[in-house]
Order: sequence, then structure tokens, then C-alpha cells
Amino acid sequence: MKIYKIAVIAGDGIGPEVVDEGIKVMKKVAELDDRFQFEFTYFPWGCEYYSKYNKMMDEDGLEKLKNFDAIYLGAVGFPGVPDHISLWDLLLRIRKEFDQYVNIRPIKLLNGAPCPLVDGSRDTIDMLFIRENSEGEYAGAGDWLFKGKPEEVVLQTGVFSRKGTERIIRYAFEIASKEEKTLTSISKGNALNYSMVFWDEVFNEVKEEYPDVKTYSYLVDAAAMLMVKDPGRFEVVVTSNLFGDILTDLGAALAGGMGLAAGANINPERSYPSMFEPIHGSAPDIAGKGIANPLAAIWSVSQIFDFLGYEEIGERILKAIEFLVEESAVLTPDLGGIASTAEVGDRVVEILNQNV
Ligand code: NAI
Ligand code: MG
Repeated sequence: MKIYKIAVIAGDGIGPEVVDEGIKVMKKVAELDDRFQFEFTYFPWGCEYYSKYNKMMDEDGLEKLKNFDAIYLGAVGFPGVPDHISLWDLLLRIRKEFDQYVNIRPIKLLNGAPCPLVDGSRDTIDMLFIRENSEGEYAGAGDWLFKGKPEEVVLQTGVFSRKGTERIIRYAFEIASKEEKTLTSISKGNALNYSMVFWDEVFNEVKEEYPDVKTYSYLVDAAAMLMVKDPGRFEVVVTSNLFGDILTDLGAALAGGMGLAAGANINPERSYPSMFEPIHGSAPDIAGKGIANPLAAIWSVSQIFDFLGYEEIGERILKAIEFLVEESAVLTPDLGGIASTAEVGDRVVEILNQNV
């Protein structure tokens, strides 16, 4: 029997609350399946850790994480610790050092999930966003000159390497080709006259290798409009770090809200562990109340199974989430219910148990 080692960084706010439910689901699946077991190791890193030790994670934290099969993360960030510190010193550090250059965010409207579009349906809102996750606008390149002086100037440089751009675009083509879907590239070549002209050029180059994949290219502003007006035209989507960040929050809103949005940070070569997380933050406004929606965190568990090669289990977990949302008896307040975080987790486990 295979034993998978999972590093758990529950983090801050509602992070630990939703992660508990995801782990409940993983344990149940392992119990029902004799091919594997999980071994969980918890790392207490995050803002609370920062307030005690003045660091978001241990100095040798990456060394400690290196040999795990996957990292399961809740959320980091809490009032009192500046967001750029909590983000850069933990999450972005892991994403970068472990070369998790692919961010996969499914935007799929499950039956029963609320959609702000009057004609939004399961058929039309079903996209897979592949967001560049290692460079671009979030490379951290820039300068802050004459700080505090009248002539103050700040520079934030987008970094688009040939290697980085090519590999994310190729990854997206591989998925589109395998799943027989269309691929849409989202850029902004009219205004960003270096980075995005380059992005478009690389997209067109790689496209030559995949004559079977039908492609589209949109400017990011038009894409935002089309995601609302005609979401059905998007299937697999590839875009830069910043554009992907923004558009997937829009996508999350289309597909039932932050409580239902998951994201995987993948190192496709598997030289380092990949990291799975709900895309929402630590939600300080509802933390500690036991009402956070754990479905996004449970959806990321389904992504862990996909990644480990058990796609049928990933699919089953997603079906269980959909069953729960559709029956609408056990939902947290963000989805209009009165259930607690733990009750929703328990219900998912029950559904998996009954194999409905
Ligand atoms: P947020 O996602 O934490 O919350 C936005 C709104 O959505 C809040 O009203 C919250 O109550 C609600 N919400 C989020 N997740 C929910 C869930 N599972 N169930 C029910 N309601 C939910 O974003 P916000 O408020 O901008 O950020 C809060 C903190 O989280 C900040 O410190 C931020 O830096 C951090 N953050 C961390 C992320 C991560 O760890 N990946 C991602 C986004 C933000
Ligand atoms: Mg975001």
C-alpha cells in the first residue's frame, strides 16, 4: 500500500477551519480505498507564528517541505501583519522556490450553485484557467526611488522569460489537446508593447505544434467583458500571473463564490511538491465562528487526487460536492444555509460513504 506524505499548512483565520474538513474527506477516501493511506504533518506557519517568532515560516522551511508528496494549504494573512509580508514570505516563497509555475483554477458552475448571471448554466460556465505562477507581473522586480520625497518614483516590472512563457503556454496546449477543448490566450498586446506582444508571439509559435487545438486570443479587458456576457466561449484559458489572478476571482464569482473556488500550484516535473489550496483568503470577518464554507478546500482535495493519479476519486469528490450543493440541505451561510463548517464536511463524508 502506498503512503502519501502530506504537509499541512493550515495558516490563519478560517484556514485551519476549512482544512480540517478537507482532511476529514481525505481520511474517509483512504479508509474506503485500500490502495493508499495518508500521513499528515502539520506546520504551524502563518501570521500567528509571525507574531511570536517574527517570521512566517522556519528558515529551513523549504528543506522541511521538500520531500512531501503534496502541500495542503488553508489561507495566510491576518490583520496586524502586512499582507505583502504574509504573502511573499510564505505562499510566494513556496510557489517560487518549488517552481510551481502552473496555477490551475477550475471555474465550473455546479448544479445548484448560485450564479449572478441570469442565464448562467453548468454548460456555459465550465472553464479551466491555467495561470502563469512564477514570474510576470508578480516577479517582485522593481525599485522605489526617492522614497518619501516629492520626486518619488516606483517601478514594478513585469518579467516574461522565454522559458517561463513557453512552458506555461505549452502546458495549456497539452491539456487542451488531451481534453479536446479549445484554448484561449488572454493578453494585452496593444498597451503592454513588450511583454504582451512577446506573449502573443510565443503563443502563436507554440500553436504551430498543436494543429488539432482550436485557439482564440483576447485582450484582457475584452475577456473580462466576455466572461460575463458569453462565458460559454471559454474552455481552457492560459494567461499571465496578474491577469489570471484577477480573472479567476471574476470566475469564482460566476461559479458560486469564494466558498467554491479551488486552485492548485503545480510543479509539473514533480521535482518539488505541488501545493493545493482554496483560493479564498483567511476571511478575518468570519474567522472563529465556524461558518466558513469548506467546499473550496474540499475541491482542492479533489485536485490532490487528480494530481496523484486518482482522477476517478477526484471526480467522485467533485460529484459529492455537487450533490451536496444541489440537495441544498446542508450549506453554510454564504450559500444561503445555516450549517456549520463541520456539518458541511460531515455531509460530504456521508455522501462519499453512500457512494451516491
Ligand atoms: P477573503 O477571501 O479572505 O475574504 C473575502 C470575503 O469572502 C469575506 O467577506 C469572507 O468572509 C468571504 N469568504 C472567503 N472565503 C470564504 C469561505 N470559505 N466561506 C465563506 N465566506 C468566505 O479575502 P480578503 O478579505 O481580501 O483577505 C483576507 C486576508 O486573507 C488578507 O490578509 C489577505 O492577504 C489574505 N489572503 C490570503 C490568500 C491565500 O492565502 N491564498 C488569498 C487571498 C487573501
Ligand atoms: Mg487572488
